[in-house]
Amino acid sequence: MEEHLTVGRVAELAGVTVRTLHHYDEIGLLTPSTRTPAGHRAYSAGDVRRLREVLGYRRLGFGLREIAALVDDPATDPVAHLCRLRGLLTDQRDRAAAMVAAIDRELEARAMGIPTTPEEQLRGFGAQLYDTIGTAYPATRRTEPRIAARLWAALGDARTVLNVGAGTGSYEPPDRTVTAVEPSAVMRALRPVGAAPCVAAAAERLPFEDRSFDAAMAVSTVHHWPDPVAGLREMRRVAHRVVVFSYDADETGWRERFWLTRDYLPEFAGLLVGWPPLDELTRAIGGRAEPVPVPWDCADGLFEAYWRRPEAYLDERVRRAMSVWTRVGPPAEQRAVRMLGEDLASGRWAERNHDLLARDTAELGLRLLVA
Ligand SMILES: C[S@@+](CC[C@H](N)C(=O)[O-])C[C@H]1O[C@@H](n2cnc3c(N)ncnc32)[C@H](O)[C@@H]1O
Repeated sequence: MEEHLTVGRVAELAGVTVRTLHHYDEIGLLTPSTRTPAGHRAYSAGDVRRLREVLGYRRLGFGLREIAALVDDPATDPVAHLCRLRGLLTDQRDRAAAMVAAIDRELEARAMGIPTTPEEQLRGFGAQLYDTIGTAYPATRRTEPRIAARLWAALGDARTVLNVGAGTGSYEPPDRTVTAVEPSAVMRALRPVGAAPCVAAAAERLPFEDRSFDAAMAVSTVHHWPDPVAGLREMRRVAHRVVVFSYDADETGWRERFWLTRDYLPEFAGLLVGWPPLDELTRAIGGRAEPVPVPWDCADGLFEAYWRRPEAYLDERVRRAMSVWTRVGPPAEQRAVRMLGEDLASGRWAERNHDLLARDTAELGLRLLVA
């Protein structure tokens, strides 16, 4: 018969309190598979393995809800979890080592009375935005089939496809040979088992020869690149065809298009400062832009996805998977959510936006750039 461990023994071995294990049980994160005849929790080898995964992701800063989604994923077996945890921990160790080295350099410079530049002070301390927010991404971000169909049609007969800023790979076509590029270690680690191989690099410097892919694609990522035009030119250089799903940030339009930014989050304007106009983006790839309407029941939880389901924006889990909220900062986020909540409760939102309820799609500035 399989040996089971008591809750006290498991707590002792794992270095957590019995209360923590009771809490994990209460929220369904780790329910021991059996009870002793006296009714006490008894943990099997499988329960212990699951606890190790929970504690590993916890150490890496994942929230309990995200951990539940990760450890419940039937496609990720124990070996895949170990490989993913290993990759994330190695990356965390390397980043800590880079910070220690930067501190040592600064201490040495100070001891010698040498001033350090802002660049030197900050080197090694920055983090990719998606290393911070990426853990919340899988909760609501997934393939929207109608957007995927547009993208895949635009890829034409391309057999080899480079996916730049690939994230967890939501829009990678299943019937072509895909290579992914993704700078965030957290996003790379969250790619599903069996996903296309992924290279750690940024769009602005793609480590590939000229024209080495039939097509290059980039989805919901260009607005994160420090130099979008340079990144798009790189895509143009390495591929025969370029397909980009992006956003028209030109001044006329976006302010009025979406009630969320118009009525609740004017701080969105600050995120667009310096963002190249659409025609500059299309020029960088030498292509054209086509509008992509957002379906009312969009499956991918992108910023515009819930235009006809406003209550969704009150949900913290939904907002955490949209970078806009982190980028505008907590005061703007809290105010916008409070105002929206009040307007939904009072009927003011419905009064202002009743015309939306009859629509199935909305034009919110999303664009497919094709070259
Ligand atoms: C909103 S996610 C989109 C991910 C994926 N394409 C999708 O549609 O689900 C944006 C991604 O862009 C990546 N990214 C940020 N800066 C980048 C850069 N300079 N080059 C390439 N990708 C970048 C982020 O790490 C993140 O994974």
